[in-house]
Amino acid sequence: MSTLSDFFIRLAVYGAVGKDEKKGFILLYLSFTLVISKSIATSADLYLELYFLLAVANGFIIPISNPFLFRFNAMAAAIVVFPTHVSVPVIKNPFPCKIIVIIYHGKDLIGLDLEQADKQFVWHPYTQMKDWLQWNNKVIVKGNGFYLIDTDGNRYLDGCASMWCNVWGHTNKEIIDSIITQVKQLQHSSLFGLGNRPAIELAEILLKISKQMDHVFYSDNGSTAIEVALKMSVQYWRNKGYNRKNRFLSLEHGYHGDTLGAMSIGYVPEYFRHFKSVLRLSKRISPPKSSTLDDFRNHVKQDYIDNLERIFSKYSDTCCAMVMESGAQIAGGVNVYPYGFQKAVSELCNKYDILLVIDEIATGFGRLGNMVEYLAQRSNPDIVCMGKALTGGYSPLAVTLCKNEVYSAFLSDYSENKHFCHGHTYTGHPIGCSVAITNLRLYRKHDLVENIRRNSIYLRARLKEMQASPVVGRIVHKGLLGAIDLVNKKEKKHEPIQSLDYHGKKISTSNYIMREAIKMGVFMRGLGDTIVIIPPLAIGKRDFKFLLDVICELIKKIEVMV
Ligand SMILES: Cc1ncc(COP(=O)(O)O)c(C=O)c1O
Repeated sequence: MSTLSDFFIRLAVYGAVGKDEKKGFILLYLSFTLVISKSIATSADLYLELYFLLAVANGFIIPISNPFLFRFNAMAAAIVVFPTHVSVPVIKNPFPCKIIVIIYHGKDLIGLDLEQADKQFVWHPYTQMKDWLQWNNKVIVKGNGFYLIDTDGNRYLDGCASMWCNVWGHTNKEIIDSIITQVKQLQHSSLFGLGNRPAIELAEILLKISKQMDHVFYSDNGSTAIEVALKMSVQYWRNKGYNRKNRFLSLEHGYHGDTLGAMSIGYVPEYFRHFKSVLRLSKRISPPKSSTLDDFRNHVKQDYIDNLERIFSKYSDTCCAMVMESGAQIAGGVNVYPYGFQKAVSELCNKYDILLVIDEIATGFGRLGNMVEYLAQRSNPDIVCMGKALTGGYSPLAVTLCKNEVYSAFLSDYSENKHFCHGHTYTGHPIGCSVAITNLRLYRKHDLVENIRRNSIYLRARLKEMQASPVVGRIVHKGLLGAIDLVNKKEKKHEPIQSLDYHGKKISTSNYIMREAIKMGVFMRGLGDTIVIIPPLAIGKRDFKFLLDVICELIKKIEVMV
């Protein structure tokens, strides 16, 4: 259907079909009526928030939102859902009347083609927009469980957990209810000069989970949580009179976000070389080699630690903090630390008076199989950053936790200007905080970490199967994080597969993975020549199997191409 008249004609036909005893052309009386979702038959797929255009004809089509009209004993023949981008048959009739739901793809009717509008108006992150304009890109209009649904009603498994933050899928009732409750109560009030209940309650919960931490500072995304940690570290030492301690140590291939401070410590040349001139790069230490599927029980080597100690001793007077991801690096190149590495760093920080900042943004909340990864690593940080899964993806929120020792260095009279000079408009946002509270409650209720561990065993078994492929190189795995390096092993070349042919055009391997996976019903993003497996944390067995089957299929496709 493409025109309004077409639409009317169909509606008339449906009106006739839907009625046995009443005939005749439907008199269209158009009214935009917001139908209360609970008052009509639904399947979970019906896109209810939009308007229902109700065609009302004398006597037999009624606006069912109005129970009063049932008194007229009318027979509803048709309900037109307008506009919607989701084709789902929804015929379940709780009313004493006939209901036919015609779902109309309203692009032309309302003059808005979302794909075109997206291309015209939206600038996408890490995207060559010239290239983007040439593709048939998807616009997501709805989520349903672990699936994303586009304008044409196609469903894609959210294979990268919406940038690694999704926990429960996209329609978790308890989280949605908590948002609604909070929105009705207090929508926003900042922590500048005021407290708010959700921010206080969440802080208490987080400090219970994160043993050794005593205070919570709120921000709204991972990068800002890192900025908070960096500024906190610098000011901590200044407040104590050590002005020279203003540089950072960090790890090569570490990634901590895209803001200037975060780029300075997590400098990934492929992403950040344009900005190098304005960054104040940290001293970066080469991390130990990643644990692979076969040597994952390996312990960090003593000579590595000895070398590390020499660096810490050298930079002790000038470095305020060491910053590292917890348990594993991801975005700068997937690397699961060998046992004892994080603990050894922690001990050196303590010995050489350097604060330890642990970034749990991507790896905390169960991603690596532990609720709090730094505790599992037996490290003892001074400052910890959390984000992503903190709200399960339902609201932007991040936190920077610190110990009393750090916090108390900021206590003084205002005249001494020792208070922490940092804050965001959305600091401690009540909706974000109440979402996080519900999310963490659900972790306990469903014993999610245990479930993650079970899925992790399954993931390991599937990764082992994939190891045999001639295009699979190193495989890394921990918890619900998996990474497969694609290499051309034929003739023992072992060269990374950096690009692949796609309909006669060479595209990067990560782009190829994304485009081929979406055709198979999965949305995922690779990292260069690495397939990264980061599913929503509560993913069920069936969906997880589907995701891994698609990855196996992708590997087979690549096998015949190289
Ligand atoms: C370890 C780590 N730290 C920080 C960030 C930045 O988080 P955000 O994208 O929310 O700014 C990321 C993002 O992927 C990350 O992986």
